[in-house]
Amino acid sequence: MLRCQNNRQLHLQDVDPAFRDDVLQGLSAEPRAVPARWLYDARGSELFEAITALPEYYPTRIERSILSSAIGEIAALTGPNRAVIEFGSGSSAKTPILLSQVSPVAYVPIDISGEFLRDSAAVLSDKFPKLPIYPVIADFTRGFALPDAINGAPRLGFFPGSTIGNLVVPAAVDLLRLISTSLGAGSMLLIGIDRVKEQEILLPAYNDPNGVTAAFNLNLLHRINRELGGSLPVEDFRHLVRWNDAEARIEMHLEARQDVQFEIDGWAFSIAKGETIHTENSLKYGLRDAFVLLRAGGWTPIAEWADQDEFFSLILAKQEPALSAP
Ligand code: AVI
Repeated sequence: MLRCQNNRQLHLQDVDPAFRDDVLQGLSAEPRAVPARWLYDARGSELFEAITALPEYYPTRIERSILSSAIGEIAALTGPNRAVIEFGSGSSAKTPILLSQVSPVAYVPIDISGEFLRDSAAVLSDKFPKLPIYPVIADFTRGFALPDAINGAPRLGFFPGSTIGNLVVPAAVDLLRLISTSLGAGSMLLIGIDRVKEQEILLPAYNDPNGVTAAFNLNLLHRINRELGGSLPVEDFRHLVRWNDAEARIEMHLEARQDVQFEIDGWAFSIAKGETIHTENSLKYGLRDAFVLLRAGGWTPIAEWADQDEFFSLILAKQEPALSAP
């Protein structure tokens, strides 16, 4: 990246310095990449909600149906009176199924988007008027503080949607460990994990014919232009999805349709035709791999439920630090 002559450097009040740094560094790196968490501004969160309703995007639908049919067994295994802590609560679509059956003492949704969190907490408090709800606005991958009000209550973490798949393995292990130490001894975790499957199913799930996922991906460029004063020509990029077999992951990229030049906050960039900006990984796991991942993260799997096609798994695990030797 080059510093521009005669540039105007922005000093916008509302610029998130972490967003600015990730974008400037990520677009200067080789290969170019911007962390996926920046896909979720208000518009990105709305588009992601729309993705979850697409016929091609099977994870949400299948996970909800697994949860509905397994909830009796799940409740029997967790027992009542736990504080339920949901990671990345989003619109909390699956949460009522869980909350209505596990007899929780409190619900703590944690999400990076304050707006979404407030809306979904309001919907849930209408549905469960007696349940204390303590929303926490945080990027839980970077740490979070649980409210004092749930001190002493055993915890049940709820991490649906296979969001864990958006982290590369070392980061996923770090996060599972963070959750394990934060929830503490005696806690349990109910986690959704998307399974490895045929590309014929995976690719359309991330590249729907109506272009909703493309809009979700391209929204990142609009966000950069709006929040960081960028001049990215959005129409010169296209949504690109790849299956990376060696890493067992779907990758989302933004590919330049032609040579492009633009500025962000006074820095000049050029991207050649065909080059991409890597915007998201979505790792898919075999069942044993998922169990190994959980164990590495300080969780012992105790039960697993899947759909008939084994497209998606819901795993219940208990907090148990791994022993270092047999
Ligand atoms: C949030 N996360 C689990 C989604 C996924 O499937 O990796 C994000 C997503 N990206 C494109 N479509 C959905």
